[in-house]
Amino acid sequence: MAQGAIEGYPKGWFVVAFSGEIERGSARPLRYFGRDFVAYRGDDAVVRVLDAHCPHLGAHLGYGGKVEGGCVRCPFHAWRFDEDGRCDEIPYAKKIPPGAKIKAWPVVERNGLVLLYFDPAGEAPDFEIPVIEEYGSEAWLPWVTAIYHVKTHPREIVDNLADKAHFAYVHGTAIDDFSFEVEGRRAVQRAKGRAFLPGGGVDHFSSTTTYHGPAYLLMRMDGALQNYMLVAHTPVDETHLDLRLGVALKIVGNKAKTEGFIKAYMDNLKHGFEDDLKIWEAKVYRDTPVLCDGDGPIGRLRRWYRQFYPGGAPSVQSVQSTLSEESR
Ligand code: FES
Ligand SMILES: [Fe+2]
Repeated sequence: MAQGAIEGYPKGWFVVAFSGEIERGSARPLRYFGRDFVAYRGDDAVVRVLDAHCPHLGAHLGYGGKVEGGCVRCPFHAWRFDEDGRCDEIPYAKKIPPGAKIKAWPVVERNGLVLLYFDPAGEAPDFEIPVIEEYGSEAWLPWVTAIYHVKTHPREIVDNLADKAHFAYVHGTAIDDFSFEVEGRRAVQRAKGRAFLPGGGVDHFSSTTTYHGPAYLLMRMDGALQNYMLVAHTPVDETHLDLRLGVALKIVGNKAKTEGFIKAYMDNLKHGFEDDLKIWEAKVYRDTPVLCDGDGPIGRLRRWYRQFYPGGAPSVQSVQSTLSEESR
């Protein structure tokens, strides 16, 4: 294995649902990281995520599990589990066996999203997803959303942040100013450019796009409209991931008019993403790409990203010595 190679699943916060996907008092299955989970929203409105399969005879708690307060009851023989995954009641037994527990995962609900902290080594979270101050306020519309199930590896999605050259050719966007920096668990791209609108006209925009950890990307864009764009990807298994898109917009003029804007904006964004998707689903990953001086800082981004993988200390091994300064 190459030093610092990207294998297995990264650790960090991952969006596993938009808030609206998990209703109060109901449980549902999730499948991510090659494993099964049950997510449920208690009667107190708090979302919990546990491993899916009951330690008794293995039923999946996400298919027919009943929510009671902050607990979930197995659909097979009615053992009940609390939010820490401990069995606290077996209706037909006098004693609860010591092994009657399942793993509970760290979860937060923030910015209209349910996020799970995944770490294959089981360590506690070591960074936070920032609160979007405007989100949920009167002046902003909440996320308009889309979900894609994509056959690709997370590293392809992440490469995009530093891939300055693809904007013109895939998205028809001119980038006039571009910078990139990394700091701890964050990677930040700042761009100024021109987007050519489908109906004609040019939108001069400036954007700040930040990865908070390996999989949660938030872009703040100021142009004709002020908005946030969310791109959150979560590995389903080694070959597929779920990609969640969201657009939140500041209300301009009246609300109904802004709702029209946001729909058009999302349609436009989806077209842009579908152009990326076609490339991602058919491409191969180049561990040692041949880069040129007009490429963005792909090597730097990859070294930053490797920190989220087991044994993935920063390394320069996989970046060819022929890279330009910028691409390093
Ligand atoms: S399998 Fe869950 S209670 Fe029996
Ligand atoms: Fe792209």
